[in-house]
Amino acid sequence: MATGAAPYPSVFMVDTHAAYPPLPPKLKHPGRRGSAVQYLLFLLIALAFCGLAIEACFIYHLYSRNAYEESGSIARSVQDEQDILPPIPVTQRPNPVVLPSKPVAHLTAAPQKDRRDGVLVWNMDEPPLLYGMKYKDGKLVIGKEGYYYVYSKIVFSMVNSSLEHSVCKFTPRYSEQIPITLLQSKKYYPKSDRMSYTTNSYLGGVFHFFENDSIVVRVKHLTQVRISESTENVFGVFMI
Ligand SMILES: *[C@@H]1O[C@H](CO)[C@@H](O)[C@H](O)[C@H]1NC(C)=O
Ligand SMILES: *[C@@H]1O[C@H](CO)[C@@H](O)[C@H](O)[C@H]1NC(C)=O
Repeated sequence: MATGAAPYPSVFMVDTHAAYPPLPPKLKHPGRRGSAVQYLLFLLIALAFCGLAIEACFIYHLYSRNAYEESGSIARSVQDEQDILPPIPVTQRPNPVVLPSKPVAHLTAAPQKDRRDGVLVWNMDEPPLLYGMKYKDGKLVIGKEGYYYVYSKIVFSMVNSSLEHSVCKFTPRYSEQIPITLLQSKKYYPKSDRMSYTTNSYLGGVFHFFENDSIVVRVKHLTQVRISESTENVFGVFMI
């Protein structure tokens, strides 16, 4: 039994002894491979981040250079313009510099004269946008036959029971004294509510005009038109 038992432990010893040395390499081997893969992966990620950073730098550089070049070109074109044009004071500079391609007008209200015909007069003190037509005593005189969009906006205050806003045409083909209504708005208020309104009226539409036809804006009572700000009351025409 003892002799029989003796070889067993030795066998065990040998077995265990023999089993130990191969084990570490077995364990070490995958570990080394794993760390190599990890290292490679880390390297790749680092490389990717480096690439991103470089790309970001390039994009930033490109944008800042573009912005610089744009502002530079604007400055340069202004400089060129100033070189070509004779030096004129800013206030006398034609405004707008680019002429319209078609007849156009946009007028703002002047302080109103108390006219019986209710025709509004428009501000000519500061040169308005007026091209391809003439202004005379409240009238816009068409210079070229064609189709035009006509618009007018008026602010009313002190509205007393009713208001009327219209755009009328005068034509030498009919009778120059008789207005032809093109656009109109009317409002009525009950007597109990009188003198309490501020209200807006906007009119717009497309019409055909011959040369020398003229158009005006009329209201029933000129005293109802609020002139505190001229930009609130406008009259415009443009060829379409
Ligand atoms: C208001 O209406 C009265 C008559 O109802 C008239 O006498 C007066 O002139 C009107 N006022 C205005 C601002 O239109
Ligand atoms: C328009 O009026 C001008 C000046 O009043 C005149 O010379 C021109 O012949 C008129 N045009 C037409 C088409 O009537």
